[in-house]
Amino acid sequence: MAHDQRAPIGVFDSGFGGLTVLAQLIEQMPGEDIIFVGDSARCPYGPRQLEEVRGFALQICSWLVVQGCKLIIIACNTATAAGLQAAQRAFPVPIIGVVEPGARAAAHATHSRAVGVIATRGTVSSGAYERAIHHIDAGIEVVSLATPPFVELVEHGLQRCAAAGSVANAAQLFPACEYRALVRSALAPLRALPLDTLVLGCTHYPVIRHLIADAMGPEVTLVSSAEEAARDAYQILHRRHALADAAQESVRCFYTTGDDVEDFKRFGSLVLGHPMERVCHLELPAYEGTA
Ligand code: DGL
Repeated sequence: MAHDQRAPIGVFDSGFGGLTVLAQLIEQMPGEDIIFVGDSARCPYGPRQLEEVRGFALQICSWLVVQGCKLIIIACNTATAAGLQAAQRAFPVPIIGVVEPGARAAAHATHSRAVGVIATRGTVSSGAYERAIHHIDAGIEVVSLATPPFVELVEHGLQRCAAAGSVANAAQLFPACEYRALVRSALAPLRALPLDTLVLGCTHYPVIRHLIADAMGPEVTLVSSAEEAARDAYQILHRRHALADAAQESVRCFYTTGDDVEDFKRFGSLVLGHPMERVCHLELPAYEGTA
């Protein structure tokens, strides 16, 4: 038996977004222990310099390595674009991001070979999606659009609920009647183009998928990296004989760097679709290595 089997998988994002990836991971690998970090205190990552985000990614990966994680998923496109390679060089465990899985899903889904990508400013300016999609099929036309209001909409919308009382799901939380105009106008530059596939290149965006689908129309297929990234994690652990027994009861621990532990628990559970029982505040130690 490989000693890694009972070790946890580490997953992180700037906030709630990475929980959309974790939901898929739980679906595909229910027996795995999980440590999730939401860096709410420094969210959003999107408008920051990539060097700064790289430092955050290294700091969080370093902490997850110290916790004994057997695999780390950078469940944030911005942090993947900024820091995946640096983290892979710095740490001795497998680390995967979400850009390559999302690019692969899009390259496989498109018929017209015209793909749109919506993401944060940081991800768009890095050119990471274009490179990853062209690595698979250099003939695909890729049009990227930064849609920064969407992260704010998701983070603030979830937090605002604290005042609003209980909601059952994200569609109820972000009703089309209230948000349709904002999402449509942000996506207007893409709606004029002949795309058949749109990558949700930010892990926050699946929370408002219903609004994006409504704005883009039924002829555009929406892809996100969540499912694909979870599949990659499964394959890596399978090949390393490090998968946990799917039937065993798993332990999932959640940390937020913000002071919002109760909100994080409540709204995180909504995004995750599972109750988040163990939620704690995390004060991240400084990272001593070089970025
Ligand atoms: N969810 C993150 C991403 O996938 C970042 C959102 C943000 O912090 O700006 O890019």
